[in-house]
Amino acid sequence: MRSFLTGGALALVLLALPAGAAARPAPDNDQVLNIAHRGASGLAPEHTFAAYDLALKQGADYIEQDLQQTSDGTLVVLHDETLDRTARGPAENCSGPVATKTLEQIKTCDVGSWFNERYPERAREEYVGLRIPTLEEVLRRYRHRTNYYIETKNPDRANRMEERLVALLEEYHLLRPAQRRWQVLVQSFSPASLLRVRALEPSLPLIQLFSSRETSESIQARLDAVDEYAVGIGPSKTDVDAELVQAAHARCLDVHPYTLEETEEMRALIDLGVDGMFANFPARLEEVLGKDAVGGKQAAKRAARAHADCVAGV
Ligand code: G3P
Ligand code: CA
Repeated sequence: MRSFLTGGALALVLLALPAGAAARPAPDNDQVLNIAHRGASGLAPEHTFAAYDLALKQGADYIEQDLQQTSDGTLVVLHDETLDRTARGPAENCSGPVATKTLEQIKTCDVGSWFNERYPERAREEYVGLRIPTLEEVLRRYRHRTNYYIETKNPDRANRMEERLVALLEEYHLLRPAQRRWQVLVQSFSPASLLRVRALEPSLPLIQLFSSRETSESIQARLDAVDEYAVGIGPSKTDVDAELVQAAHARCLDVHPYTLEETEEMRALIDLGVDGMFANFPARLEEVLGKDAVGGKQAAKRAARAHADCVAGV
C-alpha cells in the first residue's frame, strides 16, 4: 500500500481529523477509478455509443453521462445546454437550447460530424450521423455491464430532472447496485440537485462537483457541508493539492478530479492520493495505472467498500 503522507504529516492530519473519523490511506493504483469523460471523448465524438464502446474497450471503470432534458421531458445525454457546438442538421431542430426541442427534433441531429471536422486526424466515416442518446438508451445498451457516472446539468432549470433520473435507475434495477457497489454515481455542481436526489433515493452515492473558479481553500471550507450528503468531490484538477486530498479523506470523501489528458498530470494526481479521475483518453490512464488495474465492476466495488470502511472507522 502506497502512502502519500510522511510520518510527521500523517500525525498532523490525524490531529486535524474530525472526532471519530479514521485516517484514510491513499488508494493503490488499482483502486484509482478510470472515469471516461463523456466516453473516450478524445478519440470519438463525446457522449455517443462510439465513445462509450471505445472507453469500455480501453478499460474505463465508468462511463460519464451529462444530462439535458428535452421540452417533452426526456433525459438525453449531451454536455452543452445548447446544440450549437456538436449537433449538425436542420437548424430548427439542431441549434439553440436542448430544452426548447422535442425528442423527435433532437433525434434528427448528427453529433458525429463535428468531431471529424474538428479533429481530421482522428476522423472516421462511421462517426457521421451518430445520434444523441437518451439516458434510457444508454442504460438499455450497457445494463449491468458497466458503471455509470451521471451528471445533472442545469438541473435548476429542468423540471423534475432528478425524479426522471431516479425512476430510470429504478426501472433498470440500478438502485441497489448503486448503493452496494457504486455501479452508479450521481454528480452535480448543484448542491440543491444532489439534495433532491437524496430526498428521492437516500441510498444513491453522490459526488459534489466544484467549478474551476474555486480554490483548494474554498473547497476545503465547504467539505463539512458536503460530507452531510455526498461520498466524494469532483474538483477541477487545478484545485487539487495535498491539503485538499487530506481534508477530503479525513471526512471519508473520495476525490475525483476532472479533466485529465496528459500522463504526467495523471501521475501527479495519483501521487497526491486521488481516488479516481475523469479522463478524455482512458487508455492513457489505464496505462499509467499499470497492470494491477482491476476490472471496472471490481474497482467500483472496492471503492464503495473502502468508503464504507472509512465511515465505519475500520
Ligand atoms: O463532471 C465532471 C466534469 O465533466 C465536469 O465538467 O463541464 O465536462 O461536465 P464538464
Ligand atoms: Ca460532466
